[in-house]
Amino acid sequence: MPDTSTYRIHGGTPVTGRIRGLGAKNFATKAMVAALLSESPTRLLNTPRIGDVEITCDMLEACGAGLDWSGEGDLAIDPSALASARVPVPDSGSNRIPILLLGVLLHRLGEAHVPVVSGCNIGARPVDFHLSAAEMFGARIVVADDGYHATRGGPLKACHYRLPYPSVGATESCLFLGVLAQGTSIIENVATEPEIIALITLLNAMGARVQLMPNRQLVMHGVDRLYGTTFEVLGDRIEAASWAALAAATDGEITVDGIDPATLINFFGPFNSVGGGVSIEGPRSIRFFRRRALQSTVLETDVFPGFATDWQQPFAVMLTQAAGASIIHETVYERRFDYLTALSALGARTQIETHCLGNVSCRFHGRDFPHSAIILGATPLRSDGLTLDVPDLRAGLAYVMAAALAEGETTITSVPRIERGYGDLPERAKGLSMRIERR
Ligand code: EPU
Repeated sequence: MPDTSTYRIHGGTPVTGRIRGLGAKNFATKAMVAALLSESPTRLLNTPRIGDVEITCDMLEACGAGLDWSGEGDLAIDPSALASARVPVPDSGSNRIPILLLGVLLHRLGEAHVPVVSGCNIGARPVDFHLSAAEMFGARIVVADDGYHATRGGPLKACHYRLPYPSVGATESCLFLGVLAQGTSIIENVATEPEIIALITLLNAMGARVQLMPNRQLVMHGVDRLYGTTFEVLGDRIEAASWAALAAATDGEITVDGIDPATLINFFGPFNSVGGGVSIEGPRSIRFFRRRALQSTVLETDVFPGFATDWQQPFAVMLTQAAGASIIHETVYERRFDYLTALSALGARTQIETHCLGNVSCRFHGRDFPHSAIILGATPLRSDGLTLDVPDLRAGLAYVMAAALAEGETTITSVPRIERGYGDLPERAKGLSMRIERR
């Protein structure tokens, strides 16, 4: 039965309290895939119990891996009986894991059949870089109606490949292809997000020989085999930034546990410039608050170390409370401002532009994509029983924030899209003063 539960949120008061951040979805799911590169078990600690991890578990099990949860967040993956190279279509239809399994299954089983996963509500999300990379390593790929069919004659061979853009997923594909390929591979223009650094660390702990060099270059000396290991999933920097923005937006105070401040390094500057305050209370504990009246700012999203595209939605909610005109230029996804329409329904004053409102070199320049936004503040938000339907995960948490900020009651629907990345929010947010209940 599809999950039709909704969240009901009573907003309008400062949100205070403490919340334990989850392990990062965008690393945990990749680490689960990496575990299949070995033939011995890997144990992942601090693995979040969220929708996307469950979907990834189903895919891995369909390929023959054994998965076992013991204790909180302790996930054992046994890849020894891997047998099926056919990846099922994920439940959500828009999960990015199937394409990452292509290189892994090619190494382990000599072939891979991966479904075509549709785009989602933030842009087309093509996989052309992943496919070109696999071909550079020697894979033969046939594109059929039901997906990509990849085979190899012999072992995959090292290559020199330059990614057209520092894509996170394509960098991960290159890592999976290169660690076991014969010879030394050089991949240029790679992504360097903290989750990529963690993935390189995990692969090296499994016995790989991967080095991240200056200027976005990866050097991989292929090895014959990898070994299972134990590894702890890093905290989710996107979730942490969202609670930070909520604390500042509502003039509350939220302490987030389980997050390494270093992964938020380029969030703090823009957050401070708007008027947010930060106190590092322990090695993995950060208190966020409002230091002064919020003021508008100008920012552009970019690949790491730039301001993350997944931070812009919670940030935009905070900017509705900042005096003046704020500008966000989104340079990673071509269509990631649809959620502003919902904020406008709550009273926010926003405008979406197709031209670049910024200086970052942008692939969407002159291409008519709605990828710049203007937010006028400060505007009190209000909801007289409005219903907001969640379009995607990160916008979903932004809606929860907006509802917590708005005077009155808001209903949020399509909550499984939120829970894919954030788990059971009403349960998790019990340590916060936010009034959120499941219906
Ligand atoms: N791109 C291509 N061709 C490709 C691959 C990517 O044109 O073959 C383009 C994309 O269309 C996009 C840009 O490159 O415009 C960046 O995409 P990237 O590959 O970096 O994104 P991803 O790996 O699909 C991950 C996260 C996203 C996050 C981005 C950017 C996961 C599962 N997803 O996606 O997170 O926004 O990196 O940091 O790791 C989310 O968690 O909700 C989410 C969307």
